[in-house]
Amino acid sequence: MSKAARFPGCVVALLLIGAGSAWAQSPAAGPALPPGTGRDIAQAKCVSCHDTSRLTAPGYSREGWQVVLERMTKLGVQLEPTEVPVLTDYLARSFPQQTQAAASVIAGDVRVSFREWAVVPTGAFPHDPLATPDGAIWYTGQHASVLGRIDPKTGSIREFRTTVPDSGPHGLTADADGNIWFTANYAAYIGRLDPMSGVITAYKMPDPAARDPHTPVFDAGGVLWFTVQAANMLGRLVPGTGVVKLASVPTPHALPYGIVVSSKGVPFFAEFGTNKLAHIDPATLAIHEYVLPQAGTRPRRIAITSDDVLWYSDYARGCLGRYDPKSGVASEWPSPGGAASQPYGITALNDVIWYSESGVRPNTLVRFDPKSQQFQSWAIPSGGGVVRNMMPTAGGGLVLAESGAGKVALVTIK
Ligand code: HEC
Repeated sequence: MSKAARFPGCVVALLLIGAGSAWAQSPAAGPALPPGTGRDIAQAKCVSCHDTSRLTAPGYSREGWQVVLERMTKLGVQLEPTEVPVLTDYLARSFPQQTQAAASVIAGDVRVSFREWAVVPTGAFPHDPLATPDGAIWYTGQHASVLGRIDPKTGSIREFRTTVPDSGPHGLTADADGNIWFTANYAAYIGRLDPMSGVITAYKMPDPAARDPHTPVFDAGGVLWFTVQAANMLGRLVPGTGVVKLASVPTPHALPYGIVVSSKGVPFFAEFGTNKLAHIDPATLAIHEYVLPQAGTRPRRIAITSDDVLWYSDYARGCLGRYDPKSGVASEWPSPGGAASQPYGITALNDVIWYSESGVRPNTLVRFDPKSQQFQSWAIPSGGGVVRNMMPTAGGGLVLAESGAGKVALVTIK
């Protein structure tokens, strides 16, 4: 098998790659940090969990970098009080906020309409959305440590505060009985909220190294699978016993991120720190990785169609990717917003792919039809504020969390 040539843009052609081949690993270090006072702090404190690419892109204002450092501290980064202003200055000077390209909107036949609600409390930072069969829309308010439930008929919002303060609720899903489950990103537990009583049960990580529980998903048998990003682990929680088991990802610093379950009950996940997708064997917890052909690919979130084909948002290269784990065939398409469009939240609805571009202003909602291979896209009314996740509703629509805009959207599709 020959190594695929490296292309600067997305590669539209099909590429055949052997499943599980020993492809060269991309370096974990990332781009070199520019010189200046504070560089040594960044080098010492900021490149153990992720590489420097998280620092060099997309850039923030000084206030934005302050918020990032607060979040990193909650994730376990230890900074001396004297280091904080020096590092903030260095980051703000070296990686200022970049002006985002204007969205490029592609016309088409599908009509959509958006309804958006401002979440409570203000500044809650809605990270993940959840549409439940009763028509409600839930969200995790990561910064305010709340879960919220919106009734789209009345617009009323009920707020559930986590029992553990500053839990950092992040990923969100529901079980067959209507309980709401979330990953507590900062406090490292899995939470189950009984929406009737408001009682939250916390399932702690059995290993203190398991920081940053990230995205949860239930399989058809009611077992919860979740990624543990910074710890480079996958987790399994059996609700009947409450037992949590963890497995480490073979590639170091792989940053396991988005996760879906196939029709055969096998969880597949994206490795955002490298150019790989992977699955975990539900019986043995053995992890098998699949290498994507382009070394620069960084699959962030992942969707699955009824044929068990995986679709991923290539955040780093601005591509929509398709990977068939059965044949090893990979293909990709340039996202309408271009190489810096940062595709992020993604889902499949009736075997059509929907995702958001977070690197263009305003953020877009993009539709890709695998049959016709046609794109269509829309500007998100609020601007989006980075749509980190989305999911279908029972009624054939979509829900989106617009974290920086402080809103949750319901998209109706005609
Ligand atoms: C303990 C592990 C860890 C260390 C050390 C760490 N980070 Fe992070 N960082 C993370 C995780 C996990 C995320 C992803 C958070 C998420 O997806 O919500 C992240 C994301 C980021 C992001 C992207 C933010 C976003 O909204 O997507 C930036 C920027 C960042 N880190 C900067 C830093 C800086 C600066 C330092 C050094 C002070 C640092 N990180 C050290 C774990 C770490």
